[in-house]
Amino acid sequence: MKNIAIITGASSGIGKEFVRQIDGGYVGKVDEIWVIARNSEKLEALKGNTFSKLRVFSADLAIEDELSDFLTALKEENPRVQVLVNSAGWGKFSDVSNSSLAELENMVDVNVQALVEMCYQVLPYLVRGSKIINISSSAAFMPLPGSAVYAASKAFVLSFSRALNHELKDVDITVTAVCPTGVRTNFFNKAGNQSGVKNIVDSFGITDAFTVVREALEDAEQGKDLSIPTLSGWLMYYSSKLLPYQAMMAIQDYLKNNYSEEENTSAAQA
Ligand SMILES: NC(=O)c1ccc[n+]([C@@H]2O[C@H](COP(=O)([O-])OP(=O)(O)OC[C@H]3O[C@@H](n4cnc5c(N)ncnc54)[C@H](OP(=O)(O)O)[C@@H]3O)[C@@H](O)[C@H]2O)c1
Repeated sequence: MKNIAIITGASSGIGKEFVRQIDGGYVGKVDEIWVIARNSEKLEALKGNTFSKLRVFSADLAIEDELSDFLTALKEENPRVQVLVNSAGWGKFSDVSNSSLAELENMVDVNVQALVEMCYQVLPYLVRGSKIINISSSAAFMPLPGSAVYAASKAFVLSFSRALNHELKDVDITVTAVCPTGVRTNFFNKAGNQSGVKNIVDSFGITDAFTVVREALEDAEQGKDLSIPTLSGWLMYYSSKLLPYQAMMAIQDYLKNNYSEEENTSAAQA
């Protein structure tokens, strides 16, 4: 029976970095890495750069039945899944009234519905010691006007992951919710900045996918249910526990209106 890792959103950003680090760090522990995203060319391009065999499943996670090849492969090959990473997701920085309903629903379908389905379908193939790593966000810590559905979807991922982690304690399977602040990836190309939320993200600092993934894998290894890779993320986490949500949203308004990208860029270059 083969040992595998499964990574959604592997064509780009954080998911792609998970492929790289799991491939390097799980040598001998996984025989194959199964990667899932829509862009099959980008997934195919990962082949040849990994020690483990790569298996590509091109699927739009927002569309019912697109996972059928993947589910059939699971059933037929009955692998031991050592690690499942749910990284596929996207967000938009615009008010609800300025978004299309299709966009908002798609965000829920990919960030929430598909993540639940992946956990559910893969569960029978996990073994003692297996890890589930779900990519949430620091946006999960508080309501986020200007990206309301995205933040709510990530709050779902955080809450769901913690509860599932507790449910699986007795079988020694852990679930880690990863809550990064801004990460340098293609995420922001799609998110835009119509509502000014990117100003909030920038004011907390942008980190890199390498750091996020390294911390996530270490935290998952230690069985932690929460992974926050930056100090600014922890600051946000504890502030959201101490301050009423109205105060957090007032701080967000201040940052949206007063953050200057120009100043930040010149400070970073100095
Ligand atoms: N970057 C940040 O600042 C940040 C901060 C906190 C949390 N996050 C979270 O981190 C995760 C990864 O994002 P990223 O920063 O790495 O952005 P990214 O570079 O844009 O990667 C997003 C990944 O999700 C996949 N994806 C999106 N929609 C999909 C769909 N309908 N079906 C299948 N796959 C889909 C994309 O693949 P295809 O386009 O090939 O389908 C891509 O591989 C997301 O869940 C995001 O919410 C990001």
